[in-house]
Amino acid sequence: MIRTRFEVMGVLAVPLGLMLALTDLPLTLVAHGEAQSSHTKADVSFSEDVTPILEGKCVICHGGPDENGAIKKEMELDLTSYDALMVGSEFGPIVEPGNVEDSVLWMMIELGDMPQEGEPLTTEELEVIKTWIAEGAQNN
Ligand code: HEC
Repeated sequence: MIRTRFEVMGVLAVPLGLMLALTDLPLTLVAHGEAQSSHTKADVSFSEDVTPILEGKCVICHGGPDENGAIKKEMELDLTSYDALMVGSEFGPIVEPGNVEDSVLWMMIELGDMPQEGEPLTTEELEVIKTWIAEGAQNN
């Protein structure tokens, strides 16, 4: 009985924690009013935090040159710029701003499917991308 109860609690705690983490963000935005200056509130910057990860571990297969200068764009996915990333792959968008769990980008890196070759993302890198999506996937 006790074991079962612990298992149930564990199962409930994860989605609850996630929901709390996610709902916190829109509330912060509301608290700052409609003023778009609340953008400065973001913890993660696309250009400073997300871009280096993509350049280091992803663009070699998604839009950037390899050591011979050849460009590969697996699944038509180009991760070399914000605009291209937001267009997504041949299947469409890979990011749902504000919705981490529904973002294909997140699913792929969380499961370790991407990068398909090379060093996997570190815990910190995963956290950066997760936070960036949760904060609305801004071009900041
Ligand atoms: C060695 C090459 C390679 C690297 C490096 C790589 N990818 Fe991929 N990526 C692929 C291939 C091939 C596919 C399509 C086949 C598949 O899904 O396995 C793909 C598919 C994807 C998709 C799925 C698109 C869709 O709409 O289903 C996403 C998202 C993605 N990659 C993101 C990334 C990210 C983010 C990184 C860096 C952390 C990365 N990839 C690194 C080769 C690579």
